[in-house]
Amino acid sequence: MPKSLFARIVALASAAIALGLLIAVGVRLWQAPRPSIAVEEKGVSGAALVGGPFTLTDQHGKRIADSDFRGRFMLVYFGYSFCPDVCPTDLAAMAAAIDRLGPEGDRVQPIFITIDPERDTVERLAEYAPLFHPRLVALTGTSAEIAEAGRAYRVYYEKAGDGPDYLMNHSGIVYLMDPDGRFLTHFPQGTSPEEMALKIRSQMSDVRSQS
Ligand code: NI
Repeated sequence: MPKSLFARIVALASAAIALGLLIAVGVRLWQAPRPSIAVEEKGVSGAALVGGPFTLTDQHGKRIADSDFRGRFMLVYFGYSFCPDVCPTDLAAMAAAIDRLGPEGDRVQPIFITIDPERDTVERLAEYAPLFHPRLVALTGTSAEIAEAGRAYRVYYEKAGDGPDYLMNHSGIVYLMDPDGRFLTHFPQGTSPEEMALKIRSQMSDVRSQS
């Protein structure tokens, strides 16, 4: 049956070519360098530009300094509790990312810093923080203290509108800082918890191998 033999040879050859292609692509992916942004973010300039000391007040009325978190990774987000959509989404993503890390997640401290201290009082934050994560530290302060922390983290924010229901325009970036308080990487708005957890885990193992 020459026809069926021929068909079988063709099928075998196609399968072999397909397998070869798969292996070639796999090898290429394996060898491909990590995205350049990851390399840039670890650069000295980025590390020096983002982050810095702050002393603020948490949702229990206790004064908290950034140095209180040494030995833990800090996951820092600036926003405001009256934010209708973006802040809740990002805070929920942070919390879900930490939970996905399992026991390792205990080494990550989620921190929310308000850029709307006028309305985000200690009492307000005491109600807001537990909505997202039991360990979320929510910080407020005077306008000057918030401005200083915002400058350190290169955060943009601006009041939009008048009256009691004003909005705040603000940058929505999640920052990951190492156990010494130095910038490691950031997550743009809309990063999924899965992606965030993966990157945090890889940064944690990098830090461990360096120390
Ligand atoms: Ni917001």
